[in-house]
Amino acid sequence: MLRISKLSKHFGDKTAVDSATLDIDKPCMIGIIGRSGAGKSTLLRMLNCLSDASTGTISFEGRDITSLTGKAKRAWQSECAMIFQQFNLVPRMDVVSNVLHGTLNQRSTLAAMFNLYPTTDIHRAIDILDRLGIAEHAPKRAEALSGGQQQRVAIARALMQDPRIILADEPIASLDPMNAQTVMEALRRIHEEDGRTIIANLHTLDTARRYCDRVVGMRDGRIVFDGLPEQLTTSVAREIYGAGADFSEAATSTSIETLEQGNAVVRMTAETPL
Ligand SMILES: Nc1ncnc2c1ncn2[C@@H]1O[C@H](COP(=O)(O)OP(=O)(O)OP(=O)(O)O)[C@@H](O)[C@H]1O
Ligand SMILES: [Mg+2]
Repeated sequence: MLRISKLSKHFGDKTAVDSATLDIDKPCMIGIIGRSGAGKSTLLRMLNCLSDASTGTISFEGRDITSLTGKAKRAWQSECAMIFQQFNLVPRMDVVSNVLHGTLNQRSTLAAMFNLYPTTDIHRAIDILDRLGIAEHAPKRAEALSGGQQQRVAIARALMQDPRIILADEPIASLDPMNAQTVMEALRRIHEEDGRTIIANLHTLDTARRYCDRVVGMRDGRIVFDGLPEQLTTSVAREIYGAGADFSEAATSTSIETLEQGNAVVRMTAETPL
């Protein structure tokens, strides 16, 4: 289905992604983990054509994605919707209009300029919000919603595109554990019920293990692990994070259980002492 072959991205003399190869044969939910700077976002951005690959190829059902331009590129960007840590909503715009923005690629410039949406699209937007449990917030400004609700609005906007793939770059990194759980459950349900592939960059091992069918570990731009969640042992995680024997999984956990045990939540960054 999706084939990433020897994909690299260089920024000057910095190699952000180094000859990454990944095959996805069937719809699944994949978690990409790795410490800050490992190349996770760069990989997702290349998949979505937000960034050009330096070398290597991406193909989807036999179509070469890396060489797309213009209309064909925009069509692909609709097929693989992207959601971000900071939601990227228009804060002062109402929720339903934010969701309708997901159809922007398919509408004429004139209709887009005057915010003209077909009634069927408006109904569909409300249905999607309803599915995500936030239809009652449809008329409110996006900025009036909690972080977890805003991320569900962003997911709704992605679903308006009816994408085959949803790319999620740290979708829960700004959320508290309860909201993080709601958002991950929503993504999992979308995968299971609709058969869409979800590829999510995640900072926490427990989230990857709990929600994903497959986990990919990146280190220094390279894919150093590709396996089942149960194969992601502490020693494998240590390898991925380049951490020493004192590596603690709690340091990459946002689970409620961990918080209840009184452990602080620490985001794994290049600066985090390991
Ligand atoms: N536009 C850019 N220009 C120069 N260097 C970049 C650019 N984007 C990313 N990099 C570098 O490429 C490397 C990989 O960055 P990337 O953002 O993909 O990492 P990441 O795994 O997503 O990290 P994080 O967990 O902090 O989000 C980093 O060293 C980063 O500094
Ligand atoms: Mg990133």
